[in-house]
Amino acid sequence: MKINFLKWKCAAVLGMLLCVTEGAFSQTATEPYEGVPGWQESREKRMAWFKEARFGLFIHWGLYSAAGGSFEGKKYPQHYAEWIQTWGKIPSKQYAAVLKPKFTLRSFEPKAWARLAKKAGMKYMVLTSRHHEGFSLFNSQQPYALKNEVTGTANLSPAGRDLYREIMQAFRQEGLKVGAYYSLLDWQHPDSYEAFQLNPNMDNHQPDHNRYKDYLYGQIKELAQNYGTLDILWPDFSSKKYHGESWGTKRILTDLIKWQPDIIINNRFWEGLENKNGDIGTPEKYIPPTGLPGMYWEVSHTMNESYGYSAHDQNWKSFPKIMQLFVETVSKGGNFLLNVGPDGDGAIPEPAVRILERIGEWMQVNKEAIYGTSASPFQSLDWGYCTQKEDRLYLHVFNRPASGKIELPIKNKITAAYVLAQPKNKLKFTLNGGRPTLPVEAFDIEKGPQVIVVEIQGKPLVEESLTQTQADGRIIMNANNAKLQAGKGLKIIGAHTHDPNRPNAIGQWKNPDDRVYWDIKIQKPGQYRVLISYLPDTKKQGKVTLQVLGQQLPFIFATEGNGFKEVELGRVEVSQQVIGEPSTRVTLIASAIEGESLPEIATVSLVPIKD
Ligand code: GLC
Repeated sequence: MKINFLKWKCAAVLGMLLCVTEGAFSQTATEPYEGVPGWQESREKRMAWFKEARFGLFIHWGLYSAAGGSFEGKKYPQHYAEWIQTWGKIPSKQYAAVLKPKFTLRSFEPKAWARLAKKAGMKYMVLTSRHHEGFSLFNSQQPYALKNEVTGTANLSPAGRDLYREIMQAFRQEGLKVGAYYSLLDWQHPDSYEAFQLNPNMDNHQPDHNRYKDYLYGQIKELAQNYGTLDILWPDFSSKKYHGESWGTKRILTDLIKWQPDIIINNRFWEGLENKNGDIGTPEKYIPPTGLPGMYWEVSHTMNESYGYSAHDQNWKSFPKIMQLFVETVSKGGNFLLNVGPDGDGAIPEPAVRILERIGEWMQVNKEAIYGTSASPFQSLDWGYCTQKEDRLYLHVFNRPASGKIELPIKNKITAAYVLAQPKNKLKFTLNGGRPTLPVEAFDIEKGPQVIVVEIQGKPLVEESLTQTQADGRIIMNANNAKLQAGKGLKIIGAHTHDPNRPNAIGQWKNPDDRVYWDIKIQKPGQYRVLISYLPDTKKQGKVTLQVLGQQLPFIFATEGNGFKEVELGRVEVSQQVIGEPSTRVTLIASAIEGESLPEIATVSLVPIKD
């Protein structure tokens, strides 16, 4: 299904653009901001509020919202419902004729949207001013937008109104910064690069890309000049073939910084979600496993699967899962842009409203642990995530350890520790072998993670952390807490846009001298099964040996399988003596690498065998 979807999305751009995923990790080597003056010099000043904000609302709203994932009785994939026009190969004229009457605005209350975002603790929003279908929420005065032979008009607002203005004003009134998503693709404009080939009369049409560039320039000028302050321009998206100057970026950037001197732009005028152009990287539906050091970045994520409204996409993430995505992003130094897809009547789906309200309840108490914080000093923590600000570490506890205690791998002197919700109740901590150990009261994760503030003296002096025993006696060694002893290559590979639930894994293991180890704390003696979870791949084969407590466990990877699979690698005996040791090292070495590399390894676990 996933493969089909990918093919679909790639094929959808009619072979003229390369697939989005393909470019996700590559970088375009152009001059930052096309060398246009004004941008680089003012960057830190322009980014100041964004660093502080950490949390924003993405709104996908357009004609696709009226389709809600189905067109003339046929249901389309539940993700990326805003792509329905290409999924269904629907000519723009028919698309507009069917969907415009369903774009009713019956429940459209932009002020309520804005209040909801504010209550959730969001500091900014980004609205789809025009998506790939080519219809705009703003009243564009470009000749094509006003009147054309393809769809009549590309403007969506009813006579006398400008939906884009109404929404932007409502959010600004609530004190949020406002951003415009603006599609560089256009499936209806006859002169765009990927002019929708199913539109009649397209076959003999010779697109004039200069005219399309003028259209982009003209519309961006309208967004920047006619609606007050525009805090972010969020263009979307480029490919290996079309990027930068294909859109006329030089001209746009030269003028945009004059029209809106404080504006922020994302990196999608250029190719690759992690490319270093523009002001912010834009990982889509995934969190880079080790953040994106040296860049500002923002993860956009969905609450169900689709950005645009899909009536049959009921795959809502749980509230704790959304909190985990939010806090993990912030703990790695990124901003979290959480999406809602209002329907064709203008109503935000009820489950999304509820999730935002619940985030708001948590933020009410815990916002200090989010706004203005910077990335965690720790590589990974078994029980949750950490953010930091000044002399404070904020520990976001998601899984309370069975012991009811967490050990912090730092050497600093602690001056105070307390649950953020109860600052007066100081927590009594002990020093366990020099490491502060804090009690964690039981809490309900359905209300969000519990935040413990630890005030320390000086900058965090981080020690190597130990992988701890879980409540059920297992010890789970994963890619996040692995220590990689490697030359080039070996790295942590994470989830990505088209496989957002994929686990982080150790990959690109090509060098036989590389090794991976974990230092763990075993709490109970006895027999343990050693399990390994990996991704079988015919092109990635070989053998590893796991070394633990003087024992050598060889393992040959299978090549068949669909997705990550967990199998027994061997068994180990843990004596009482080991329990007294401060830590035990588990090491994986490569005994043979065949093909491209070893397969990707997600986890190695020790599971106690119950007598
Ligand atoms: C992608 C998709 C699009 C979505 C966006 C959000 O480029 O094409 O449908 O709006 O990213 O990040």
